Amino acid sequence: MDTTLPSPAYHYRVVRQFALMTVVWGVVGMSLGVFIAAQLVWPALNFDLPWLSFGRLRPLHTNLVIFAFGGCALFATSYYTVQRTCQAPLFAPRLAAFTFWGWQAVVAMLLVTLPQGLTTTKEYAELEFGGAVWLAIVWVAYAVVFFGTVVKRQTRHIYVGNWFFGAFILVTAMLHVVNHAAIPVSAFKSYPVYAGATDAMVQWWYGHNAVGFFLTTGFLGMMYYFVPKQAGRPVYSYRLSIVHFWALITLYIWAGPHHLHYTALPDWAQSLGMVMSLILLAPSWGGMINGMMTLSGAWHKLRTDPILRFLVVSLAFYGMSTFEGPMMAIKTVNALSHYTDWTIGHVHAGALGWVAMITFGSLYHLIPKVFGRERMYSIGLINAHFWLATIGTVLYIASMWVNGITQGLMWRAVNRDGTLTYSFVEALEASHPGFVVRLMGGAFFLTGMLLMAFNVWCTLGQRAPAGQHAGLARV
Ligand code: HEM
Ligand code: HEM
Repeated sequence: MDTTLPSPAYHYRVVRQFALMTVVWGVVGMSLGVFIAAQLVWPALNFDLPWLSFGRLRPLHTNLVIFAFGGCALFATSYYTVQRTCQAPLFAPRLAAFTFWGWQAVVAMLLVTLPQGLTTTKEYAELEFGGAVWLAIVWVAYAVVFFGTVVKRQTRHIYVGNWFFGAFILVTAMLHVVNHAAIPVSAFKSYPVYAGATDAMVQWWYGHNAVGFFLTTGFLGMMYYFVPKQAGRPVYSYRLSIVHFWALITLYIWAGPHHLHYTALPDWAQSLGMVMSLILLAPSWGGMINGMMTLSGAWHKLRTDPILRFLVVSLAFYGMSTFEGPMMAIKTVNALSHYTDWTIGHVHAGALGWVAMITFGSLYHLIPKVFGRERMYSIGLINAHFWLATIGTVLYIASMWVNGITQGLMWRAVNRDGTLTYSFVEALEASHPGFVVRLMGGAFFLTGMLLMAFNVWCTLGQRAPAGQHAGLARV
Protein backbone atom coordinates (compact mmCIF):
# COMPACT_ATOMS: atom_id res chain seq x y z
CA MET A 1 0.00 0.00 0.00
CA ASP A 2 1.23 3.49 -0.81
CA THR A 3 2.25 4.97 2.55
CA THR A 4 2.97 8.40 1.10
CA LEU A 5 -0.75 9.16 0.78
CA PRO A 6 -2.12 11.72 3.23
CA SER A 7 -4.18 10.06 5.96
CA PRO A 8 -7.84 10.84 5.17
CA ALA A 9 -10.66 11.46 7.65
CA TYR A 10 -12.78 8.37 8.17
CA HIS A 11 -16.47 8.04 9.08
CA TYR A 12 -16.47 6.14 12.32
CA ARG A 13 -19.86 7.07 13.76
CA VAL A 14 -21.71 4.31 11.93
CA VAL A 15 -18.92 1.83 12.73
CA ARG A 16 -19.27 2.70 16.42
CA GLN A 17 -23.05 2.28 16.30
CA PHE A 18 -22.89 -1.10 14.61
CA ALA A 19 -20.09 -2.27 16.93
CA LEU A 20 -22.11 -1.42 20.04
CA MET A 21 -25.25 -3.08 18.68
CA THR A 22 -23.22 -6.22 17.94
CA VAL A 23 -22.54 -6.46 21.66
CA VAL A 24 -26.15 -5.71 22.60
CA TRP A 25 -27.65 -8.25 20.15
CA GLY A 26 -24.97 -10.77 21.12
CA VAL A 27 -26.17 -10.61 24.73
CA VAL A 28 -29.86 -10.83 23.73
CA GLY A 29 -29.47 -13.57 21.08
CA MET A 30 -27.22 -15.75 23.22
CA SER A 31 -29.43 -15.32 26.31
CA LEU A 32 -32.26 -16.62 24.18
CA GLY A 33 -30.00 -19.52 23.09
CA VAL A 34 -29.38 -20.39 26.74
CA PHE A 35 -33.10 -20.10 27.47
CA ILE A 36 -34.15 -22.49 24.69
CA ALA A 37 -31.32 -24.85 25.72
CA ALA A 38 -32.86 -24.78 29.22
CA GLN A 39 -36.29 -25.52 27.72
CA LEU A 40 -34.88 -28.70 26.23
CA VAL A 41 -33.70 -29.69 29.72
CA TRP A 42 -36.87 -28.55 31.52
CA PRO A 43 -39.79 -28.41 29.03
CA ALA A 44 -41.95 -26.75 31.72
CA LEU A 45 -40.08 -23.52 30.90
CA ASN A 46 -42.48 -23.15 27.97
CA PHE A 47 -44.94 -21.96 30.68
CA ASP A 48 -47.78 -23.01 28.39
CA LEU A 49 -47.54 -19.63 26.68
CA PRO A 50 -47.47 -19.80 22.87
CA TRP A 51 -45.02 -16.91 22.49
CA LEU A 52 -42.61 -18.47 24.98
CA SER A 53 -42.74 -21.90 23.34
CA PHE A 54 -39.57 -23.49 21.95
CA GLY A 55 -41.03 -23.57 18.42
CA ARG A 56 -41.37 -19.78 18.34
CA LEU A 57 -38.26 -18.79 20.28
CA ARG A 58 -35.90 -21.06 18.34
CA PRO A 59 -36.26 -19.10 15.06
CA LEU A 60 -36.00 -15.88 17.05
CA HIS A 61 -32.67 -17.13 18.45
CA THR A 62 -31.32 -18.08 15.02
CA ASN A 63 -32.41 -14.80 13.44
CA LEU A 64 -31.04 -12.68 16.28
CA VAL A 65 -27.64 -14.35 16.42
CA ILE A 66 -27.22 -14.53 12.64
CA PHE A 67 -28.76 -11.26 11.44
CA ALA A 68 -28.68 -8.99 14.49
CA PHE A 69 -25.39 -10.07 16.13
CA GLY A 70 -23.58 -11.40 13.01
CA GLY A 71 -25.11 -8.77 10.71
CA CYS A 72 -24.13 -5.80 12.89
CA ALA A 73 -20.61 -7.26 13.23
CA LEU A 74 -20.32 -7.52 9.45
CA PHE A 75 -21.58 -3.97 8.88
CA ALA A 76 -19.20 -2.56 11.50
CA THR A 77 -16.10 -4.39 10.31
CA SER A 78 -16.76 -3.97 6.58
CA TYR A 79 -17.35 -0.21 6.93
CA TYR A 80 -14.15 0.04 8.98
CA THR A 81 -12.03 -2.17 6.73
CA VAL A 82 -13.16 -0.68 3.44
CA GLN A 83 -12.27 2.84 4.59
CA ARG A 84 -8.89 1.87 5.99
CA THR A 85 -7.79 -0.27 3.08
CA CYS A 86 -9.13 2.08 0.40
CA GLN A 87 -7.76 5.11 2.27
CA ALA A 88 -11.06 6.84 1.65
CA PRO A 89 -13.98 7.92 3.85
CA LEU A 90 -17.33 6.20 3.32
CA PHE A 91 -19.21 7.02 0.16
CA ALA A 92 -22.62 8.56 1.01
CA PRO A 93 -22.33 8.66 4.83
CA ARG A 94 -26.02 9.54 5.21
CA LEU A 95 -26.94 6.40 3.36
CA ALA A 96 -24.62 4.53 5.73
CA ALA A 97 -26.55 6.05 8.65
CA PHE A 98 -29.76 4.87 6.95
CA THR A 99 -28.37 1.32 6.82
CA PHE A 100 -27.82 1.42 10.58
CA TRP A 101 -31.38 2.47 11.45
CA GLY A 102 -32.84 0.37 8.64
CA TRP A 103 -31.08 -2.74 9.92
CA GLN A 104 -32.23 -2.13 13.50
CA ALA A 105 -35.78 -1.86 12.08
CA VAL A 106 -35.34 -5.31 10.49
CA VAL A 107 -34.33 -6.69 13.90
CA ALA A 108 -37.31 -4.97 15.54
CA MET A 109 -39.62 -6.65 12.98
CA LEU A 110 -38.12 -10.04 13.85
CA LEU A 111 -38.62 -9.39 17.55
CA VAL A 112 -42.26 -8.47 17.03
CA THR A 113 -43.36 -11.05 14.45
CA LEU A 114 -41.58 -14.30 15.32
CA PRO A 115 -42.88 -14.73 18.90
CA GLN A 116 -46.39 -14.26 17.47
CA GLY A 117 -45.80 -17.13 15.08
CA LEU A 118 -45.86 -14.88 12.00
CA THR A 119 -43.35 -16.64 9.81
CA THR A 120 -42.75 -17.82 6.24
CA THR A 121 -41.62 -21.15 7.83
CA LYS A 122 -38.51 -21.14 5.63
CA GLU A 123 -35.49 -21.55 7.90
CA TYR A 124 -33.26 -18.42 8.21
CA ALA A 125 -35.73 -16.65 5.88
CA GLU A 126 -38.64 -16.45 8.32
CA LEU A 127 -39.35 -12.73 7.95
CA GLU A 128 -42.67 -12.24 6.12
CA PHE A 129 -42.91 -10.49 2.75
CA GLY A 130 -43.12 -6.82 3.85
CA GLY A 131 -40.12 -7.19 6.15
CA ALA A 132 -38.18 -9.01 3.44
CA VAL A 133 -38.79 -6.15 0.99
CA TRP A 134 -37.56 -3.64 3.59
CA LEU A 135 -34.47 -5.79 4.21
CA ALA A 136 -33.73 -5.77 0.47
CA ILE A 137 -33.93 -1.95 0.37
CA VAL A 138 -31.47 -1.63 3.29
CA TRP A 139 -29.18 -4.15 1.63
CA VAL A 140 -29.10 -2.20 -1.64
CA ALA A 141 -28.15 0.92 0.33
CA TYR A 142 -25.37 -1.09 1.99
CA ALA A 143 -24.07 -2.21 -1.41
CA VAL A 144 -24.08 1.40 -2.68
CA VAL A 145 -22.08 2.61 0.34
CA PHE A 146 -19.59 -0.26 0.24
CA PHE A 147 -18.93 -0.37 -3.51
CA GLY A 148 -19.07 3.45 -3.74
CA THR A 149 -16.21 3.58 -1.23
CA VAL A 150 -14.26 1.00 -3.20
CA VAL A 151 -14.74 3.05 -6.38
CA LYS A 152 -13.46 6.28 -4.84
CA ARG A 153 -10.45 4.59 -3.22
CA GLN A 154 -7.08 6.33 -3.08
CA THR A 155 -5.18 3.08 -3.52
CA ARG A 156 -4.66 1.33 -6.84
CA HIS A 157 -5.24 -2.12 -5.47
CA ILE A 158 -8.46 -3.54 -3.95
CA TYR A 159 -7.36 -5.35 -0.79
CA VAL A 160 -8.45 -9.02 -0.66
CA GLY A 161 -10.61 -8.51 2.46
CA ASN A 162 -12.82 -6.23 0.37
CA TRP A 163 -13.25 -8.94 -2.27
CA PHE A 164 -14.67 -11.21 0.41
CA PHE A 165 -16.95 -8.49 1.82
CA GLY A 166 -18.03 -7.57 -1.72
CA ALA A 167 -18.95 -11.16 -2.62
CA PHE A 168 -20.84 -11.55 0.64
CA ILE A 169 -22.90 -8.41 -0.11
CA LEU A 170 -23.69 -9.33 -3.73
CA VAL A 171 -24.50 -13.00 -3.19
CA THR A 172 -26.61 -12.34 -0.07
CA ALA A 173 -28.71 -9.92 -2.15
CA MET A 174 -29.20 -12.52 -4.88
CA LEU A 175 -30.12 -15.32 -2.43
CA HIS A 176 -32.51 -13.14 -0.48
CA VAL A 177 -34.42 -11.92 -3.53
CA VAL A 178 -34.72 -15.33 -5.19
CA ASN A 179 -35.73 -17.21 -2.03
CA HIS A 180 -38.28 -14.60 -0.95
CA ALA A 181 -40.11 -14.52 -4.28
CA ALA A 182 -43.66 -14.91 -2.95
CA ILE A 183 -47.25 -13.87 -3.45
CA PRO A 184 -48.54 -11.89 -0.46
CA VAL A 185 -52.16 -12.66 0.44
CA SER A 186 -52.39 -10.35 3.48
CA ALA A 187 -50.15 -8.00 5.47
CA PHE A 188 -48.54 -10.90 7.32
CA LYS A 189 -48.96 -13.91 5.06
CA SER A 190 -47.39 -14.78 1.74
CA TYR A 191 -46.87 -17.97 -0.22
CA PRO A 192 -43.70 -18.85 -2.16
CA VAL A 193 -43.90 -18.85 -5.94
CA TYR A 194 -42.15 -22.24 -5.95
CA ALA A 195 -43.77 -25.53 -5.04
CA GLY A 196 -42.76 -28.94 -3.73
CA ALA A 197 -39.21 -30.16 -4.33
CA THR A 198 -38.38 -26.97 -6.27
CA ASP A 199 -39.29 -24.89 -3.23
CA ALA A 200 -37.14 -27.11 -1.03
CA MET A 201 -34.22 -26.84 -3.45
CA VAL A 202 -34.44 -23.04 -3.64
CA GLN A 203 -34.75 -22.83 0.15
CA TRP A 204 -31.60 -24.91 0.74
CA TRP A 205 -29.70 -23.22 -2.05
CA TYR A 206 -30.45 -20.11 0.03
CA GLY A 207 -29.93 -21.79 3.41
CA HIS A 208 -26.58 -23.29 2.61
CA ASN A 209 -25.30 -20.14 0.96
CA ALA A 210 -26.53 -18.05 3.87
CA VAL A 211 -23.97 -20.14 5.76
CA GLY A 212 -21.46 -19.89 2.91
CA PHE A 213 -21.71 -16.20 2.20
CA PHE A 214 -23.19 -14.60 5.31
CA LEU A 215 -21.53 -16.73 8.00
CA THR A 216 -18.35 -17.58 6.11
CA THR A 217 -17.33 -15.26 3.26
CA GLY A 218 -18.17 -12.07 5.18
CA PHE A 219 -16.29 -13.30 8.25
CA LEU A 220 -13.33 -14.28 6.06
CA GLY A 221 -13.24 -10.63 4.96
CA MET A 222 -12.94 -9.80 8.65
CA MET A 223 -10.22 -12.42 9.07
CA TYR A 224 -8.12 -11.04 6.22
CA TYR A 225 -8.02 -7.61 7.82
CA PHE A 226 -7.92 -8.22 11.57
CA VAL A 227 -5.59 -11.24 11.78
CA PRO A 228 -2.67 -9.52 9.98
CA LYS A 229 -3.36 -6.27 11.86
CA GLN A 230 -3.41 -7.84 15.31
CA ALA A 231 -0.44 -10.11 14.53
CA GLY A 232 1.50 -7.20 13.03
CA ARG A 233 2.43 -9.41 10.06
CA PRO A 234 1.42 -9.34 6.37
CA VAL A 235 -0.96 -12.03 5.06
CA TYR A 236 1.10 -15.25 4.74
CA SER A 237 0.43 -15.70 1.03
CA TYR A 238 -1.40 -13.05 -0.91
CA ARG A 239 -1.53 -15.36 -3.94
CA LEU A 240 -3.20 -18.07 -1.85
CA SER A 241 -5.78 -15.55 -0.65
CA ILE A 242 -6.82 -14.85 -4.26
CA VAL A 243 -7.00 -18.57 -5.12
CA HIS A 244 -8.91 -19.09 -1.87
CA PHE A 245 -11.42 -16.38 -2.85
CA TRP A 246 -12.23 -17.63 -6.35
CA ALA A 247 -12.30 -21.31 -5.39
CA LEU A 248 -14.55 -20.70 -2.39
CA ILE A 249 -17.16 -18.60 -4.14
CA THR A 250 -17.21 -20.87 -7.19
CA LEU A 251 -17.79 -24.04 -5.15
CA TYR A 252 -20.07 -22.95 -2.29
CA ILE A 253 -23.01 -22.16 -4.51
CA TRP A 254 -23.38 -25.84 -5.62
CA ALA A 255 -23.37 -27.55 -2.25
CA GLY A 256 -26.95 -26.79 -1.03
CA PRO A 257 -28.45 -30.22 -1.90
CA HIS A 258 -26.49 -31.84 0.97
CA HIS A 259 -29.31 -30.52 3.18
CA LEU A 260 -31.79 -32.63 1.21
CA HIS A 261 -30.21 -36.08 1.13
CA TYR A 262 -32.73 -38.94 0.84
CA THR A 263 -35.60 -36.58 0.03
CA ALA A 264 -37.75 -36.08 -3.09
CA LEU A 265 -34.89 -34.13 -4.69
CA PRO A 266 -33.54 -35.98 -7.78
CA ASP A 267 -30.75 -38.36 -6.82
CA TRP A 268 -28.23 -36.80 -9.22
CA ALA A 269 -28.74 -33.39 -7.55
CA GLN A 270 -28.05 -34.92 -4.13
CA SER A 271 -24.86 -36.57 -5.41
CA LEU A 272 -23.72 -33.34 -7.05
CA GLY A 273 -24.23 -31.50 -3.75
CA MET A 274 -22.22 -34.18 -1.94
CA VAL A 275 -19.27 -34.05 -4.37
CA MET A 276 -19.16 -30.25 -4.38
CA SER A 277 -19.19 -30.27 -0.56
CA LEU A 278 -16.23 -32.64 -0.48
CA ILE A 279 -14.24 -30.45 -2.88
CA LEU A 280 -15.10 -27.44 -0.70
CA LEU A 281 -12.76 -28.76 1.95
CA ALA A 282 -9.77 -27.62 -0.14
CA PRO A 283 -10.45 -23.86 -0.39
CA SER A 284 -11.79 -23.79 3.17
CA TRP A 285 -8.58 -25.23 4.52
CA GLY A 286 -6.53 -23.06 2.15
CA GLY A 287 -8.06 -20.01 3.83
CA MET A 288 -7.65 -21.43 7.31
CA ILE A 289 -3.98 -22.26 6.72
CA ASN A 290 -3.37 -18.84 5.19
CA GLY A 291 -4.81 -17.18 8.29
CA MET A 292 -2.87 -19.39 10.70
CA MET A 293 0.42 -19.04 8.86
CA THR A 294 0.07 -15.26 8.98
CA LEU A 295 1.28 -15.70 12.53
CA SER A 296 4.64 -17.04 11.33
CA GLY A 297 7.22 -15.16 13.32
CA ALA A 298 4.56 -13.84 15.70
CA TRP A 299 3.48 -17.01 17.50
CA HIS A 300 5.07 -15.78 20.73
CA LYS A 301 2.47 -13.00 20.84
CA LEU A 302 -0.15 -15.61 21.68
CA ARG A 303 1.33 -15.89 25.14
CA THR A 304 0.38 -12.35 26.03
CA ASP A 305 -2.32 -11.26 23.59
CA PRO A 306 -5.80 -12.70 24.24
CA ILE A 307 -7.20 -10.84 21.20
CA LEU A 308 -4.87 -12.76 18.93
CA ARG A 309 -5.86 -15.95 20.75
CA PHE A 310 -9.50 -15.32 19.87
CA LEU A 311 -8.55 -14.86 16.22
CA VAL A 312 -6.38 -17.97 16.02
CA VAL A 313 -8.77 -20.24 17.88
CA SER A 314 -11.60 -19.03 15.64
CA LEU A 315 -9.54 -20.20 12.66
CA ALA A 316 -9.00 -23.56 14.33
CA PHE A 317 -12.78 -23.98 14.76
CA TYR A 318 -13.29 -22.82 11.18
CA GLY A 319 -10.93 -25.59 10.07
CA MET A 320 -12.71 -28.09 12.26
CA SER A 321 -16.24 -27.27 11.13
CA THR A 322 -15.23 -27.18 7.46
CA PHE A 323 -13.74 -30.64 7.85
CA GLU A 324 -16.81 -31.94 9.63
CA GLY A 325 -19.23 -30.39 7.09
CA PRO A 326 -17.88 -32.23 4.04
CA MET A 327 -17.86 -35.48 6.04
CA MET A 328 -21.51 -34.95 7.00
CA ALA A 329 -22.30 -34.28 3.34
CA ILE A 330 -21.34 -37.86 2.43
CA LYS A 331 -24.69 -39.59 1.99
CA THR A 332 -23.96 -42.59 4.19
CA VAL A 333 -22.66 -40.37 7.01
CA ASN A 334 -25.65 -38.06 6.60
CA ALA A 335 -27.96 -41.08 6.95
CA LEU A 336 -26.71 -41.22 10.54
CA SER A 337 -26.29 -37.52 11.34
CA HIS A 338 -29.35 -35.95 9.70
CA TYR A 339 -32.15 -34.82 12.07
CA THR A 340 -29.87 -35.50 15.08
CA ASP A 341 -28.00 -33.23 17.49
CA TRP A 342 -24.84 -33.88 15.51
CA THR A 343 -26.06 -31.20 13.07
CA ILE A 344 -26.69 -28.83 15.99
CA GLY A 345 -23.13 -29.47 17.23
CA HIS A 346 -21.71 -28.80 13.75
CA VAL A 347 -23.73 -25.58 13.51
CA HIS A 348 -22.35 -24.27 16.81
CA ALA A 349 -18.77 -25.34 16.08
CA GLY A 350 -19.11 -22.89 13.20
CA ALA A 351 -21.33 -20.36 14.96
CA LEU A 352 -19.64 -20.14 18.37
CA GLY A 353 -16.13 -21.28 17.48
CA TRP A 354 -15.75 -19.44 14.19
CA VAL A 355 -18.35 -16.68 13.73
CA ALA A 356 -18.62 -15.44 17.30
CA MET A 357 -14.92 -15.81 18.18
CA ILE A 358 -13.60 -14.00 15.10
CA THR A 359 -16.15 -11.28 15.89
CA PHE A 360 -14.93 -10.95 19.47
CA GLY A 361 -11.29 -10.73 18.39
CA SER A 362 -12.07 -8.17 15.69
CA LEU A 363 -14.23 -6.03 17.97
CA TYR A 364 -11.63 -5.97 20.74
CA HIS A 365 -9.20 -4.65 18.13
CA LEU A 366 -11.63 -2.19 16.57
CA ILE A 367 -13.53 -0.70 19.53
CA PRO A 368 -10.64 1.22 21.14
CA LYS A 369 -9.66 2.55 17.71
CA VAL A 370 -13.07 3.88 16.67
CA PHE A 371 -13.82 5.30 20.10
CA GLY A 372 -10.40 6.93 20.32
CA ARG A 373 -9.27 4.99 23.42
CA GLU A 374 -5.75 3.65 23.83
CA ARG A 375 -6.88 0.10 24.52
CA MET A 376 -9.71 -1.93 26.04
CA TYR A 377 -10.40 -1.25 29.71
CA SER A 378 -9.24 -4.68 30.92
CA ILE A 379 -7.01 -7.20 29.15
CA GLY A 380 -7.63 -9.62 32.05
CA LEU A 381 -11.36 -9.61 31.26
CA ILE A 382 -10.61 -10.34 27.58
CA ASN A 383 -8.54 -13.30 28.73
CA ALA A 384 -11.36 -14.54 30.98
CA HIS A 385 -13.79 -14.12 28.07
CA PHE A 386 -11.48 -16.14 25.84
CA TRP A 387 -11.39 -19.11 28.22
CA LEU A 388 -15.13 -19.02 28.94
CA ALA A 389 -15.88 -18.95 25.21
CA THR A 390 -13.44 -21.75 24.38
CA ILE A 391 -14.58 -24.06 27.19
CA GLY A 392 -18.23 -23.22 26.45
CA THR A 393 -17.84 -24.11 22.77
CA VAL A 394 -16.09 -27.39 23.53
CA LEU A 395 -18.79 -28.42 26.04
CA TYR A 396 -21.49 -27.52 23.53
CA ILE A 397 -20.11 -29.42 20.56
CA ALA A 398 -18.81 -32.47 22.44
CA SER A 399 -22.20 -33.03 24.11
CA MET A 400 -23.97 -32.70 20.76
CA TRP A 401 -21.63 -35.21 19.11
CA VAL A 402 -22.40 -37.76 21.82
CA ASN A 403 -26.14 -37.01 21.59
CA GLY A 404 -26.16 -37.05 17.79
CA ILE A 405 -24.46 -40.39 17.40
CA THR A 406 -26.55 -41.91 20.21
CA GLN A 407 -29.78 -40.68 18.60
CA GLY A 408 -28.76 -41.81 15.10
CA LEU A 409 -27.82 -45.31 16.31
CA MET A 410 -30.90 -45.71 18.51
CA TRP A 411 -33.28 -44.63 15.74
CA ARG A 412 -31.87 -47.09 13.25
CA ALA A 413 -31.57 -50.09 15.61
CA VAL A 414 -34.01 -52.87 14.63
CA ASN A 415 -34.94 -56.17 16.23
CA ARG A 416 -34.71 -59.48 14.35
CA ASP A 417 -38.41 -59.30 13.51
CA GLY A 418 -37.90 -55.87 11.91
CA THR A 419 -39.53 -53.79 14.65
CA LEU A 420 -37.71 -50.78 16.15
CA THR A 421 -35.57 -51.55 19.19
CA TYR A 422 -36.07 -48.16 20.81
CA SER A 423 -39.02 -45.77 20.90
CA PHE A 424 -38.40 -42.09 20.13
CA VAL A 425 -38.93 -41.22 23.79
CA GLU A 426 -36.17 -43.62 24.84
CA ALA A 427 -33.75 -41.82 22.52
CA LEU A 428 -34.91 -38.51 23.98
CA GLU A 429 -34.27 -39.76 27.51
CA ALA A 430 -30.78 -40.87 26.52
CA SER A 431 -30.16 -37.33 25.21
CA HIS A 432 -31.01 -35.61 28.48
CA PRO A 433 -27.48 -35.58 30.00
CA GLY A 434 -26.17 -34.07 26.75
CA PHE A 435 -28.81 -31.33 26.93
CA VAL A 436 -27.62 -30.48 30.46
CA VAL A 437 -23.96 -30.27 29.36
CA ARG A 438 -24.93 -28.10 26.36
CA LEU A 439 -26.80 -25.78 28.72
CA MET A 440 -23.66 -25.46 30.84
CA GLY A 441 -21.55 -24.76 27.75
CA GLY A 442 -24.04 -22.12 26.62
CA ALA A 443 -24.01 -20.51 30.07
CA PHE A 444 -20.19 -20.33 29.94
CA PHE A 445 -20.34 -18.73 26.51
CA LEU A 446 -22.98 -16.22 27.57
CA THR A 447 -21.02 -15.29 30.71
CA GLY A 448 -18.05 -14.45 28.48
CA MET A 449 -20.34 -12.29 26.32
CA LEU A 450 -21.52 -10.43 29.43
CA LEU A 451 -17.91 -9.81 30.46
CA MET A 452 -17.33 -8.33 27.02
CA ALA A 453 -20.32 -6.01 27.41
CA PHE A 454 -18.96 -4.86 30.79
CA ASN A 455 -15.46 -4.36 29.35
CA VAL A 456 -16.84 -2.30 26.45
CA TRP A 457 -18.95 -0.22 28.84
CA CYS A 458 -15.90 0.54 31.00
CA THR A 459 -13.77 1.28 27.92
CA LEU A 460 -16.27 3.92 26.85
CA GLY A 461 -16.18 5.31 30.37
CA GLN A 462 -12.43 5.92 30.12
CA ARG A 463 -11.31 9.42 29.17
CA ALA A 464 -10.50 9.77 25.48
CA PRO A 465 -7.23 11.49 24.48
CA ALA A 466 -8.02 15.03 23.24
CA GLY A 467 -9.43 15.42 19.70
CA GLN A 468 -10.52 11.80 19.27
CA HIS A 469 -14.25 12.04 19.67
CA ALA A 470 -15.70 13.42 16.44
CA GLY A 471 -17.74 11.42 13.91
CA LEU A 472 -14.85 11.80 11.51
CA ALA A 473 -11.55 10.56 12.91
CA ARG A 474 -8.08 11.08 11.53
CA VAL A 475 -5.99 7.99 12.23
C1 HEM B 1 -16.93 -26.87 3.83
C2 HEM B 1 -17.77 -26.34 4.65
C3 HEM B 1 -19.06 -26.96 5.11
C4 HEM B 1 -19.79 -28.01 4.62
C5 HEM B 1 -19.52 -28.86 3.39
C6 HEM B 1 -20.95 -28.16 5.48
C7 HEM B 1 -21.88 -29.18 5.36
C8 HEM B 1 -23.00 -29.31 6.15
C9 HEM B 1 -23.88 -30.46 6.18
C10 HEM B 1 -23.69 -31.73 5.36
C11 HEM B 1 -24.88 -30.19 7.04
C12 HEM B 1 -26.00 -31.12 7.46
C13 HEM B 1 -27.20 -31.04 6.63
C14 HEM B 1 -28.29 -31.92 7.18
O1 HEM B 1 -28.06 -33.11 7.40
O2 HEM B 1 -29.40 -31.40 7.39
C15 HEM B 1 -24.66 -28.87 7.54
C16 HEM B 1 -25.51 -28.18 8.38
C17 HEM B 1 -25.29 -26.87 8.77
N1 HEM B 1 -24.10 -26.17 8.69
FE1 HEM B 1 -22.48 -26.75 7.66
N2 HEM B 1 -20.91 -27.21 6.46
C18 HEM B 1 -19.78 -26.45 6.28
C19 HEM B 1 -19.36 -25.40 7.07
C20 HEM B 1 -20.19 -24.72 7.95
C21 HEM B 1 -19.82 -23.53 8.70
C22 HEM B 1 -18.44 -22.87 8.71
C23 HEM B 1 -20.95 -23.14 9.37
C24 HEM B 1 -21.18 -21.98 10.29
C25 HEM B 1 -20.57 -20.90 10.30
C26 HEM B 1 -22.01 -24.07 9.04
C27 HEM B 1 -23.33 -23.98 9.44
C28 HEM B 1 -24.28 -24.94 9.24
C29 HEM B 1 -25.65 -24.79 9.65
C30 HEM B 1 -26.29 -23.54 10.29
C31 HEM B 1 -26.29 -26.02 9.37
C32 HEM B 1 -27.71 -26.41 9.74
C33 HEM B 1 -28.66 -26.10 8.68
C34 HEM B 1 -30.05 -26.52 9.11
O3 HEM B 1 -30.43 -27.67 8.91
O4 HEM B 1 -30.74 -25.66 9.67
N3 HEM B 1 -21.50 -25.02 8.20
N4 HEM B 1 -23.49 -28.36 7.01
C1 HEM C 1 -24.79 -18.99 24.25
C2 HEM C 1 -24.72 -19.40 23.05
C3 HEM C 1 -25.75 -20.26 22.34
C4 HEM C 1 -26.60 -21.22 22.82
C5 HEM C 1 -26.73 -21.74 24.24
C6 HEM C 1 -27.37 -21.72 21.70
C7 HEM C 1 -28.36 -22.69 21.79
C8 HEM C 1 -29.12 -23.15 20.75
C9 HEM C 1 -30.15 -24.14 20.84
C10 HEM C 1 -30.61 -24.80 22.13
C11 HEM C 1 -30.64 -24.36 19.59
C12 HEM C 1 -31.77 -25.31 19.20
C13 HEM C 1 -31.22 -26.70 19.02
C14 HEM C 1 -32.26 -27.71 18.67
O1 HEM C 1 -33.22 -27.41 17.95
O2 HEM C 1 -32.14 -28.86 19.11
C15 HEM C 1 -29.90 -23.52 18.68
C16 HEM C 1 -30.06 -23.49 17.32
C17 HEM C 1 -29.28 -22.72 16.46
N1 HEM C 1 -28.35 -21.78 16.82
FE1 HEM C 1 -27.67 -21.42 18.69
N2 HEM C 1 -26.96 -21.06 20.57
C18 HEM C 1 -25.99 -20.15 20.91
C19 HEM C 1 -25.33 -19.28 20.07
C20 HEM C 1 -25.48 -19.23 18.70
C21 HEM C 1 -24.77 -18.35 17.81
C22 HEM C 1 -23.72 -17.29 18.23
C23 HEM C 1 -25.18 -18.65 16.54
C24 HEM C 1 -24.78 -18.04 15.20
C25 HEM C 1 -23.87 -17.14 14.98
C26 HEM C 1 -26.18 -19.70 16.65
C27 HEM C 1 -26.85 -20.27 15.58
C28 HEM C 1 -27.82 -21.24 15.66
C29 HEM C 1 -28.45 -21.86 14.52
C30 HEM C 1 -28.14 -21.55 13.04
C31 HEM C 1 -29.36 -22.81 15.02
C32 HEM C 1 -30.27 -23.73 14.20
C33 HEM C 1 -29.53 -25.02 13.91
C34 HEM C 1 -30.24 -25.98 12.98
O3 HEM C 1 -31.40 -25.74 12.61
O4 HEM C 1 -29.64 -27.01 12.60
N3 HEM C 1 -26.34 -20.02 17.97
N4 HEM C 1 -28.97 -22.79 19.42
